Amino acid sequence: MKNLLKIDKKIESFNQEITIDGDKSLSIRWALLASQAKGKSRAYKLLKSEDVINTLNCLKKLGVKVNFYNSYCEIYGKGLNSYSYKKGLSLNAGNSGTLGRLLLGLLIHSKEKIKLVGDNSLSKRDFSRVTVPLKRFGAKFSSVNQGKLPLFVSSTGTSRPIYYLENKGSAQCKSSVMFAALNTTGETVIKAKKSRDHTELLFKHLKIPISIKKTKKFDIIKINGGKNFSTINYTIPGDISSSAFFIVLTALSKNSKILIKNINVNPSRVGVIKILKKMGIKILIKNIKNYKNEKIADIYVESANNLKAINCPANLNSSAIDEFLIIFLVAAKANGISYFKNLSELNQKESPRLRWGSKILNMMGVKTILTNHSLKIYGNPKLEIKKEIIIKEYLKDHRVFMMSTIAALTCGGQWKIYDKDSINTSFPSFLKIIKEIVRKSS
Ligand code: S3P
Repeated sequence: MKNLLKIDKKIESFNQEITIDGDKSLSIRWALLASQAKGKSRAYKLLKSEDVINTLNCLKKLGVKVNFYNSYCEIYGKGLNSYSYKKGLSLNAGNSGTLGRLLLGLLIHSKEKIKLVGDNSLSKRDFSRVTVPLKRFGAKFSSVNQGKLPLFVSSTGTSRPIYYLENKGSAQCKSSVMFAALNTTGETVIKAKKSRDHTELLFKHLKIPISIKKTKKFDIIKINGGKNFSTINYTIPGDISSSAFFIVLTALSKNSKILIKNINVNPSRVGVIKILKKMGIKILIKNIKNYKNEKIADIYVESANNLKAINCPANLNSSAIDEFLIIFLVAAKANGISYFKNLSELNQKESPRLRWGSKILNMMGVKTILTNHSLKIYGNPKLEIKKEIIIKEYLKDHRVFMMSTIAALTCGGQWKIYDKDSINTSFPSFLKIIKEIVRKSS
């Protein structure tokens, strides 16, 4: 079977330097913003994954000229509110919550009714979290699926800025409203619980009128909308969420080292590094550079010998939201009981990830206690799997696939992991890099 990955051997020692595919959040944001700029923007190292290809295809359907060459991508923006809305237009966000939710923010002034659809996983996810605030700008939504996809968006003909309280710590909700604010004359004010701040940093870089006041838990963001901005050339750095799988592969392997080059270490994304360090993994951040308001660095990791359990501080949840599955695997090999709390948002992802994390650990023989918002993991440093484990029907959640692969390579057992192509969503080179590390290991 072509789409099945079989692993029945643990990885041996390795010492390698790798590079990782481009950051997904930045790739999607660059494309959406470039489509609203005036003129030709160019990005190097844009992530070539399905989520990003779907972004470019949606833009093309909205009348935006896009050229995606081997080494760079060009987008010809025509300014704010310049999409051409054809009658009966249907846009496909595929598997991507980020694309679906952020794009809606840019469609609120459409005179035509635009349909937004997604794949099986995305169609199960909540969109009312963005349609509720977007309606207040003057947009109209209709759905036959209780606020989920497929849904239709169009303008009511009125348009006004809003005040919005974002209290989930969701960067997708915050950014969707920021994109709507960009196209709406007047001042939009957002009080947002801390979450990844790529959109804010890009707005600042583009000199879009934005001010941000930081308090301990919230940021007060003010955007003066309706002002055109110039083009944006960008080289996308590596994705820390993708790197996390290799950080853990190294930490859980014997006598191994890895250097991961050129990764975005934005402070609002490095929760995974803080958590893994607390658990006893040696991680060094080297060669930190500033790039267009973002931080980029190399990440060095060594095998860990004494992994400690963690009572994970909930204030790190948002900054590690995409890394919990792989963090759970570390907890399974740690000494003691780990506790992860206030994590109901994890069940809102490509699959219900809190449940899937617990389920996979149980299959591996690890005891867990699961609630709707928390997970206790009874770690075992001597964990060795002897049996067959089959991972399938997981809504093709790319991170379930990658976590299972790392578990198979570090904990033993005979694994059959279905739907290999799920990695194409975020990290198409994942298996190629794994194969290369395995080939050079000894
Ligand atoms: C993302 C935000 C996060 C994250 C997702 C990417 C983004 O979602 O899980 O993979 O690029 O803004 P939420 O904002 O819904 O937590």
